[in-house]
Amino acid sequence: MSQQAQPTAPAIAIERACEHAGRIVTIRGWLYNLRESGKLLFPILRDGTGVIQGVVSLKEYPEAFDALKGLTQESSVVVTGKIQAEPRAPGGYEIQINAAEIIQRVPESDPYPIQLKEHGVDFLLDRRHLWIRTPRQAAILRIRAEAVRAGGDFLDRLGYTRTDAPIFTPAACEGTTTLFEVNYIDDQKAYLTQSGQLYLEALAAALGKVYTCGPAFRAEKSKTRRHLTEFWMLEPEASYAHLEDMMQLGEGLVCAIVQSVVKNRARELATLERDTSKLAQIAPPFPRISYEEAIQLLQKAGNPAKWGDDFGGDEETILSKQFERPVIIHHYPTALKAFYMATEPAHPELSLSFDIIAPEGCGEIIGGGERESNYETLLQSLRRHKLPEESFQWYLDLRRYGSVPHSGFGLGLERTVAWICGTEHIREVIPFPRMLYRVYP
Ligand code: 4AD
Ligand code: MG
Repeated sequence: MSQQAQPTAPAIAIERACEHAGRIVTIRGWLYNLRESGKLLFPILRDGTGVIQGVVSLKEYPEAFDALKGLTQESSVVVTGKIQAEPRAPGGYEIQINAAEIIQRVPESDPYPIQLKEHGVDFLLDRRHLWIRTPRQAAILRIRAEAVRAGGDFLDRLGYTRTDAPIFTPAACEGTTTLFEVNYIDDQKAYLTQSGQLYLEALAAALGKVYTCGPAFRAEKSKTRRHLTEFWMLEPEASYAHLEDMMQLGEGLVCAIVQSVVKNRARELATLERDTSKLAQIAPPFPRISYEEAIQLLQKAGNPAKWGDDFGGDEETILSKQFERPVIIHHYPTALKAFYMATEPAHPELSLSFDIIAPEGCGEIIGGGERESNYETLLQSLRRHKLPEESFQWYLDLRRYGSVPHSGFGLGLERTVAWICGTEHIREVIPFPRMLYRVYP
């Protein structure tokens, strides 16, 4: 290693540049863009927290000028200079560079593939490992992080304990058609989890109120803007809780997430040019309709849906358009829901289930309800669904030993974040999307 002059100026994050006006600082990042204007250079630098315009003059700092002149996009660079308010610069501040050290120069013969112009989405998805560097993508990933943090905080405050469910599982949770089978050890079969729910039920009997935030896997053959094969879910589960408790918890959770992002990630939402006026008004209570009322609304809107039909994207979009805020739909037909759903005592054809549908066509962001807590009824349901009883003995134990009414739900992180960000497709809100025909990079 060659001896490099160590910068003495403190290294700062670009997002905090405004706090350092008038001071000499160091910024460590990458060249996002370079504008050359005779004897002045205006490099735009990014460091992952934001972008800032730099300015360097040939006359005053010829060494820094020469280092930066002709520098290629995404070369890594450390600059030192004074932060100055500059109303004409994006962000309102610039750095007047007096020294620049190039860490790695991207060769001109092999330039950074993502230029500052429109690219096709397949081109970008093939280069997702680089695409995440663009300010828009970085803003989305920060909003995602805020959503997870806010959701966890909300549940922590209510006395829920964060815990973890396994990824390898012996059986299906959400129907057998979307299971990913894995060759486990010695020819044993296992499946990637579709939801942590069944294990959360055991943990809720142990700890009272629990939640997890983890990946879920579904071999979805559908190629829609709302489907991934690997997605993340925030799943709370509570003992001695009923459908009504979960509908309230669900709307509270959604509001807590949205309001935290609006408050703490305003800059990122601005980067996305997201109109936040509607988001800022998201507050409980959400409108609530039964499945039956939903069918009537659909029919009034000219949709051919009839009692017993499941809702697809089109139906969800029609329903959410009537409200312009998240809407809760409850009491779906038992036949449409998973084997574990409890039913309305006087109407076993109706399940104690609910979904929350987000506005703007983002679809179902929450699905959940009350779990069947009676041993015999659950066993019959397992048989009706043709599920392998031996794999569910541990789950039946929960009904053998101190069974209580209990409920929970799963919030789809990507769909929620896609709605908040206003992105067309959920593939943009997960760092490395896995979809039908895509497991690269
Ligand atoms: O409605 P789902 O299938 O419910 C469950 O898995 C329950 N076991 C959860 C529970 O009660 N603990 O999935 C929950 C949410 C959906 O509302 C949706 O937002 C999201 O997960 N989701 C998907 N997101 C992206 N891609 C997919 N293929 C998804 N499938 C479900
Ligand atoms: Mg669902």
